[in-house]
Amino acid sequence: MTSRRRFLGLLAGAAVIGTTGFVVAGQAGSNGLLRSKRPLPKPFTTALPIPQVKRPTRVAGGVEYYTLAQQARDVEILPGVRTRIWGYDGTFPGPTFHLRQGRQAVVELRNELDVPTSMHLHGGVTPPESDGYPTDLVDPVRTKEYTYPMQQRAATLWYHDHRMDYTAPQVWRGLAGMCLVTDAEEENLGLPADKYDVPLLLTDRAFDEDGSFLYPSLHHGPGVEKEFANGVLGDVILVNGAPWPVLEVDATRYRLRIVNGSNARRYELALEPGGDLVQIGSDAGLLDKPRRHPSLTVTPGERFDVLVDFHDYPVGTEITLTNRLDGPVMRFKVVRQGPKSAPVPDKLADIEKLDNPVVTRTFDFRTTKEHHGARMWTINGELFDATRSLAEPKLGTVEKWRISSDFHHPVHLHLAHFQVLSRGAGGPEGRDAGWKDTVDVRPYEVVEVLARFDGYRGRYMMHCHNLEHEDMAMMANFFVG
Ligand code: C2O
Ligand code: CU
Repeated sequence: MTSRRRFLGLLAGAAVIGTTGFVVAGQAGSNGLLRSKRPLPKPFTTALPIPQVKRPTRVAGGVEYYTLAQQARDVEILPGVRTRIWGYDGTFPGPTFHLRQGRQAVVELRNELDVPTSMHLHGGVTPPESDGYPTDLVDPVRTKEYTYPMQQRAATLWYHDHRMDYTAPQVWRGLAGMCLVTDAEEENLGLPADKYDVPLLLTDRAFDEDGSFLYPSLHHGPGVEKEFANGVLGDVILVNGAPWPVLEVDATRYRLRIVNGSNARRYELALEPGGDLVQIGSDAGLLDKPRRHPSLTVTPGERFDVLVDFHDYPVGTEITLTNRLDGPVMRFKVVRQGPKSAPVPDKLADIEKLDNPVVTRTFDFRTTKEHHGARMWTINGELFDATRSLAEPKLGTVEKWRISSDFHHPVHLHLAHFQVLSRGAGGPEGRDAGWKDTVDVRPYEVVEVLARFDGYRGRYMMHCHNLEHEDMAMMANFFVG
């Protein structure tokens, strides 16, 4: 009963929010790919937009106060046509927050949409009442104050909608933005800054003939549940809301803050014609030392903070950031000489290695049997139930969480940051380094993490960050006591 309701909730989402989209039978593959119904622009013709930096409305007693509004807007994403988006401050992505360790931020969110919302700061160490719990809703025309104490390290965070049953369609509509946290440790490194520090929010979308976003709905007819049970993919890659954009760069070192804000798409990012991605940070902040990757797998919710030195390429070179699982993402064009490249520090941050878990818990992420042609997604065989809890970690302790899976499930914990201990029979992979809050668990794989439950007591959650899986009940509460 519950499962059926939730599942319909997800798919009805788009209809409720007014998507006129209709997928003609056979147009979407069983891999969940939606195909746009209008001609798509040539890649690398749109300039990469950089989201506005959000400024506080006032600063008092060491606290920064912000106001943020969720608004519908018609914006030009594809040339010559308007797309209705839902955006923070009416933009997609929303404005980028620049916060600082130790400086509390209070964000007053005003919901100017006609549906309820809930805002989650992904990666934030946040009191439970400000964590954007899926049923902690902000109704239309209401406001809610979210308090972010910022007792946490420098990191690339992001914020997005988290409404119960509707996270996937509401994020698809545009409710996502980035939040860069800094601290003294990071500032002392002399990393590329200002225009050389570029946020890149990666999403995929599909467009209807009239330019509106396509998203599956029950109008799609029989079989739609099955078709999209693995998640929804679009055929247009948007970086900071622009299709396959191009960024003109100086021949110097850049810092790229990569966020996978896609509902379900995985990326294996690489540079063409070649060059390493030098990773300096993961989800929850700087690594101990830089790591070079010829390619990087980035699953929904994950962040990778990388350095790329365009000084290695002659002026005039075009370098494509590509997804080896699919195709191009965006392009960099070296157009001029730049300042001498900032060095890559050998040592980045002090990382304490977690040890001595007080308990080991097991979480199995798995599909249910088909039910009227629909599949649901469970954790330890359970669909999400807001009143139940799957774990009660003690504040300040470290626990070992063993996560197993039958599919690709990017597993995200609210509040607690963790370190990857093992992957299958082996140790962590290169991309697992550092403090994380989201981990890629592949089909039939077991990943062990050591998580520290620090900060606040109360109700938090873990869930799959494939947003369709999340809406199909692949979430669980844990209570920090
Ligand atoms: Cu980015 Cu609970 O989510
Ligand atoms: Cu999943």
